[in-house]
Amino acid sequence: METTFSMVKPDGVAKNLIGEVIKRYEAAGLKVIGLKLTKLTREKAEELYSIHKGKPFYDDLVEFILSGPVVPMVLTGEYAIAKVRDVMGATDPKQAAPGTIRGDFAEEIGQNIVHGADSLESAKREIPIFFSGDDIIRARLNKC
Ligand code: RTP
Ligand code: MG
Repeated sequence: METTFSMVKPDGVAKNLIGEVIKRYEAAGLKVIGLKLTKLTREKAEELYSIHKGKPFYDDLVEFILSGPVVPMVLTGEYAIAKVRDVMGATDPKQAAPGTIRGDFAEEIGQNIVHGADSLESAKREIPIFFSGDDIIRARLNKC
């Protein structure tokens, strides 16, 4: 069993894809154990994307994630980290396979509907940015 983090980005919320994203994760056998609709502060957006600081797309990435509400979620299941990444599809929608979220709903790399932690280390860093007050999630993370 693994625990991971995903988030519907502002474009996914604007396109009414919250349910579609969750439906695909559940259909893949994942369980939602944390979920909210929220708007990031600049401080938290910069914390989330700190690993990309200095890259050419960093400023656009932070502005985009601040442009509207997001839906962060915590998911558990067997191979949850890889499963989320499979369901999401490739970072660039032009490379993403049909049947993946990005392949089916996104058009450009800067607006690709969903975020997903790329490793357990990332999940452990990203989840507390959104769910620091949730004891059940904290206990689950401590076991990973
Ligand atoms: P994410 O973090 O959103 O789940 O996406 P990812 O792992 O597939 O991609 P990552 O390399 O972590 O990049 C984070 C987000 O930055 C935007 N990006 N733009 N213009 C570019 O070359 C470029 N590269 C990355 C994408 O929106 C990507 O999701
Ligand atoms: Mg990433």
